[in-house]
Amino acid sequence: MPTMAKRGLEVLQDPALNKSTAFTEAEKQALGLVGLVPDVAESEDLQLQRVILQLSQKNTDLDRYIYLVNLLDHNETLFYRTVMSDPARFLPIVYDPTIGEACLKFGHIYRQARGMYLSIARRGHVKEILSNWPEKDLRFICVTDGNRILGLGDLGANGAPIPIGKLQLYTACAGVPPQYLLPMYLDAGTNNEQYLHDPLYLGMRKTRPTTEELYSFVDEFMDAVQELFPKCCVHFEDWAGYDAVHLLERYRDKYCCYNDDIQGTAGITLAGMINAVKLKGTKLIDEKYLFLGAGSAAIGLANLLVSAMVKQGMKPKDAQARVYMFDINGLLEDTRKDLFDFQRVYAHHHPSTRDFVAAIESIKPTTIIGVSTVGGLFNQKVVETMAHINEHPVIFALSNPTDKVECTPEQAYRWSQGKAIYAAGVQFPPVHFNRQMFLPGQANNFYVFPAIGMAVFATQAKRVTDDMFIEAAQAVAGQVPSDLMKQGLLFPLQSSVLETEIQTAARVAELVFDSGLARVDRPADTVGWIRQHVYKPEYGEEVSAGKAARSETKPTGSPRVRHA
Ligand code: NAI
Repeated sequence: MPTMAKRGLEVLQDPALNKSTAFTEAEKQALGLVGLVPDVAESEDLQLQRVILQLSQKNTDLDRYIYLVNLLDHNETLFYRTVMSDPARFLPIVYDPTIGEACLKFGHIYRQARGMYLSIARRGHVKEILSNWPEKDLRFICVTDGNRILGLGDLGANGAPIPIGKLQLYTACAGVPPQYLLPMYLDAGTNNEQYLHDPLYLGMRKTRPTTEELYSFVDEFMDAVQELFPKCCVHFEDWAGYDAVHLLERYRDKYCCYNDDIQGTAGITLAGMINAVKLKGTKLIDEKYLFLGAGSAAIGLANLLVSAMVKQGMKPKDAQARVYMFDINGLLEDTRKDLFDFQRVYAHHHPSTRDFVAAIESIKPTTIIGVSTVGGLFNQKVVETMAHINEHPVIFALSNPTDKVECTPEQAYRWSQGKAIYAAGVQFPPVHFNRQMFLPGQANNFYVFPAIGMAVFATQAKRVTDDMFIEAAQAVAGQVPSDLMKQGLLFPLQSSVLETEIQTAARVAELVFDSGLARVDRPADTVGWIRQHVYKPEYGEEVSAGKAARSETKPTGSPRVRHA
């Protein structure tokens, strides 16, 4: 339904309306654009060709990232057409690992506002501020307080690119239309001395508040979101482990929300584990797991893994007994006094040790999972010990960005004499070892959270549950071609990410209907129905009517205003 009209330069300055060099003659006439753009009417594919050419002239991925962000600021359709044309090539540029560098330099490379920035100093006015956002039917807010950005620590306002990039993946990977998405930075200060003293830093120059103050700010935010955008799901991203776990517990039964570091990471890692045991010919309940790192990612995965083992017939206590954790202070065991409540279930009766290799030797895990934020901790001794104990040691080195990975695939295959079943948190090229080619997979949440997002978007789900992530894990695991799995690939190919996510979203949507959480009627053909919701990076036709009109529901093209 048309709700606003724009003409001339206003059209060109609106990234959701701008077609750059692709306006037809009729559109140029109707919109007063004659003379304001080159006198051509290019196709989207020709425009894409130019973008690819210009990208090829950039020297670094950070330059390509800046170029693509700039493209998004001017022409949203062309941006998504570019990213969706070759996800395997562009996802690492718009998101991890390049985004890590973009975060570190955010205040320095900043060009234009995107999404919202809400400071704790505005407490008491959160609802009023949120209502400044021009879209009224929001379905997702991705929110960070910048306190644990990737494996880079407290970056404060420099974490703002994370929710921006994450939401781009909803669209690029699963086709969630971009107008329903709002990236949000909640500014609660930072303890990062470097940024507090950087004149170009874009956040509040205050150290972080008490937990109580922070949570009361987040409470106000969650209440305001619910009131203003009742169909909106809040996606928490890159909060410090303690806050991530506690805020999820605080809100998960009250609002539609989830934490991707906890549940998304868990979902995709579980998918990798499902395929690892398929390769070994065992079951999840036959394995023993040792985590390096006991933060939000570890706890999320351990809890989901336990739920998945319980679904395979195990008692919760027995499933928990198969999961061990080791953190910066050593093995989690029942005499440790420094543990959070949520870590205690994995602190078993066991002699204390600060030596990870000794822990491996005594626990004899079949699988080790690195979520420690520290590069290189799976050293030669660790991998050799795992290979000595296991015929096929499962080694997941999930910390990112790349320099934080616990071991590279090359190291895992070489030190285990080609026996390891390996996955990383970032993308690595194939590895040649002993005349064999191995395909190290990337346990990247982007196979899971955008699909969950699409399912929640289409069904208008009232809640996001752990079962939805287990369902997504099974759906993703089932989509790896068997010939590639034999070469060690545990996750689907990135080149077919959209199709993988449509199938995954359909499976999750079925579960949402089965659980009575949907707010829409169940369709006869779920996959076909999900496809109807998928955004296509094509220019809408609304512009040609002589008006640049906002379309409330149409998933293709995206004529509307969203820049703040
Ligand atoms: P966190 O900060 O909550 O937890 C880190 C944990 O590692 C803590 O338990 C800490 O004690 C432990 N640790 C730190 N240094 C250690 C050391 N030297 N030895 C042993 N343990 C040590 O972080 P969170 O959220 O759990 O994330 C961990 C990592 O997982 C990050 O690098 C993050 O990028 C990565 N991650 C990967 C994802 C993926 O898709 N692959 C998704 C989400 C997170």
